[in-house]
Amino acid sequence: MPVREILTAGHPMLREPTRALRDSELRTPSTRSLIEDLIDTMRACGGAGLAANQIGEPVRICVIEVRSQNPRYPFLPTIPLHVLINPHIEPLTGEKLQSYEGCLSVPGYRGLVLRHTAVEVDYLDAAGAAKTTRAMGMPAIVFQHEVDHLEGRLFLDLIEDPRTLVTTDNYDRWHRDRWLRQLDEAGVPQALLIDV
Ligand code: NI
Repeated sequence: MPVREILTAGHPMLREPTRALRDSELRTPSTRSLIEDLIDTMRACGGAGLAANQIGEPVRICVIEVRSQNPRYPFLPTIPLHVLINPHIEPLTGEKLQSYEGCLSVPGYRGLVLRHTAVEVDYLDAAGAAKTTRAMGMPAIVFQHEVDHLEGRLFLDLIEDPRTLVTTDNYDRWHRDRWLRQLDEAGVPQALLIDV
């Protein structure tokens, strides 16, 4: 399956809410091949997740996976492959954490945003089965980031202080370790992912 081109900030499709998949579209060859393209493109680009509108398909599907030693996100815990169709996300607490994020659609930059510390996501998996996943800590960030794409939102929209928008090189050099230390000191809960 081909690795697809990723749309970047400024492309109008990234700003439009995607449409939900109908029951009749589940498990079809075209949906299956879109999911394969999403997985292949995410893996080829070193992403922690990818949403369908990032590759020019305005439907409500995203994929999430972190394999060990992801070069873009070496501090992330591993997350097994999740395919989310028509996801609905809810915070599990009012608590928030600082998240220094990047995005394949915003190449070369990272910025600091606030995310819910724990979320619950209801969705259909690739086979069309209803699933619920609870995510806490780092995995919660990834799920919120990807579902935001499907609503037409980018992490840029959540940046409170524009001075935290920095190049990837400067993030690595000046900001990443300090941010991780601050998270640690703030007692952010252990990364946790439960498929219920
Ligand atoms: Ni992104």
